[in-house]
Amino acid sequence: MKKVILSVVAASLVAVSASATDLYKPCVACHGAKAEKKGLGKSEIIAGWDVAKIVESLKGYKAGTLNKYGMGGVMKGQVAKLNDAQIEELAKYINTLK
Ligand code: HEC
Repeated sequence: MKKVILSVVAASLVAVSASATDLYKPCVACHGAKAEKKGLGKSEIIAGWDVAKIVESLKGYKAGTLNKYGMGGVMKGQVAKLNDAQIEELAKYINTLK
C-alpha cells in the first residue's frame, strides 16, 4: 500500500516539472533557456525573480495593463492563453533559474 502511494506521488512530481519546462519553452527565444537574457534586449533579466513579482507581471501583461518598455503587447500575446495555475507554475520555475 505504502509503495503504491509513493509511486503515485513520484509520478505526479515528474508531471509537474515536465509541464513547467513545457510552459517555459516559448519564452526561451527571447528570455534565454535560463531566463538569463533581457527579453528582446528590453526587459530586466528575470531569472530568480520572486514568484510573486513574476505572477504580478504576467497577470499585468495578460490584462493588458502592464507596458514597462513599450513592448507589453509582445508579452500579452505570450501569456494570453495561460490560466492562473499555469502562471503560478511558470513563476515558480523561473524563480529556480539562475
Ligand atoms: C517575443 C519575445 C518574448 C517572448 C517569447 C517572451 N517575452 Fe517576456 N518580455 C519580452 C519583452 C520585450 C518584455 C518587456 C515588455 C514591456 O515593455 O513591459 C518582456 C517582459 C517580461 C517580464 C517582465 C520583465 C520586466 O523587466 O519587468 C516577464 C516576467 C516576462 N517577460 C516573462 C516571460 C515569460 C514567462 C514568457 C513565456 C511565457 C515570455 N516572457 C515570453 C519579450 C518576450
